[in-house]
Amino acid sequence: MDKPLRIALTKGRLEKDTVQLLEGLGYDCTAVHEKGRKLILPVPDAHMEVVLAKAADVITYVEHGVCDMGVVGKDTLMEMNGKLFELVNLGFGKCKFALATKKDYPFYDGFGVKTIASKYPNVTRAFFENKGMDVDIVKIEGSVELAPLLGLADGIVDIVETGTTLKENGLAVVEDVAQVSARLIVNTVSLKLRQQEIEAFVKKVEDYIND
Ligand code: PRP
Repeated sequence: MDKPLRIALTKGRLEKDTVQLLEGLGYDCTAVHEKGRKLILPVPDAHMEVVLAKAADVITYVEHGVCDMGVVGKDTLMEMNGKLFELVNLGFGKCKFALATKKDYPFYDGFGVKTIASKYPNVTRAFFENKGMDVDIVKIEGSVELAPLLGLADGIVDIVETGTTLKENGLAVVEDVAQVSARLIVNTVSLKLRQQEIEAFVKKVEDYIND
């Protein structure tokens, strides 16, 4: 028998919904629930192994083929632009990329080059290039909302889910950039070598989420 299919799941926000999806498909995820500090977990009845990783690493592992499939947010996919197939929009993990500034800040006024802080410099660059607008981009690793508050940036391009972080810090959305949700991704070679198994899994997922 072939080795189990390996699926990399994004730790944290998407984890619960992804495990719920696997359980919805009828798979026993006891090992995932009882993982402790273990990072590779068997889902024996699905002949699968679950790997838990940070979003960017999910893409890296799937791109390199050490995981056959992955579940990751469209936000990280847009930023990393990996060589892989994005097969299913899973519908959960919904949020958006937005351009935000301090409330009532006249972002589009004047001709000076604006500074934008973001954890997602590539998404930010593409958004402003598409507008034909020149901006300086500063890469920030977390709590990007701090940058305009501290006077480092005129605005941010960041994930907005409930809007609470912006609101509690006196910031507001100026413009939506893109909608985001979780995607099922597949390694291009795995899809050829294990086509039947992967297609059967994808069909199960599609039937479940369209139900
Ligand atoms: C994300 C994002 C915002 C916040 C938005 O940060 O960067 O800061 O969530 O959520 P809300 O609209 O529901 O308030 P995360 O919690 O992932 O932490 P980080 O900023 O440290 O990366």
